[in-house]
Amino acid sequence: MPCDSEKSAFFDELADDWNESVDHDPVKLERIVRLLGLEQGDRALDVGCGTGAAVPYLLGRVGDTGEVLAIDVSPKMVAVARLKLPSEEYPNVKFVVGDVGEVGLDDEFNAILCYSCFPHFHDQRATIRYLAWGLKKGGTLVIAHSESRDAINAMHASGPDEICGDYLPPAGEIAEMMADAGLEVTETIDDEETFVVVGRRR
Ligand SMILES: C[S@@+](CC[C@H](N)C(=O)[O-])C[C@H]1O[C@@H](n2cnc3c(N)ncnc32)[C@H](O)[C@@H]1O
Repeated sequence: MPCDSEKSAFFDELADDWNESVDHDPVKLERIVRLLGLEQGDRALDVGCGTGAAVPYLLGRVGDTGEVLAIDVSPKMVAVARLKLPSEEYPNVKFVVGDVGEVGLDDEFNAILCYSCFPHFHDQRATIRYLAWGLKKGGTLVIAHSESRDAINAMHASGPDEICGDYLPPAGEIAEMMADAGLEVTETIDDEETFVVVGRRR
């Protein structure tokens, strides 16, 4: 399920201004990350990490003994994230440039977060199946946005060609995809403020 290079170039263009132009509500982000159920010493994957908005929240959960792997297909997003969170100060965060679909996940994470990136995946069902495979038994996948589904879809629909077809399905549809991937769906929120679907690997 490769991500097209146009999309990577599109997000590259946005990277320098991303921190200033996108407002991440800390209360919502904290609540979303809490749903991952992470504990000290755990390993977490941040898919489509952008400039690393969720990384400090993940680190707050896994502590000094845990690890966060943050991946993004846009080299410039990752470059900005690395400046913000340098490895000397944050030795347990590893940033990777690449398409998450091509890194070969296998039974290795206590939790995987897709924050503000799920609509951009070509084959959403296959992506969920693949991410579920990357979880340890009992691990948690969270697909989340800190805005409503309608707001996300309206923003993409009125956006440029690279993202205008990127669609966030209703929570029930994502829950069905998670169930199809063998996950137990433990929570869905699809209201005017937030969008969250949580699945747990049995
Ligand atoms: C809307 S941005 C959100 C970034 C970050 N999560 C945030 O909330 O600030 C979506 C990000 O997903 C990344 N992305 C899209 N498809 C991807 C893929 N297949 N693998 C890795 N990253 C991807 C994009 O490059 C982009 O940085």
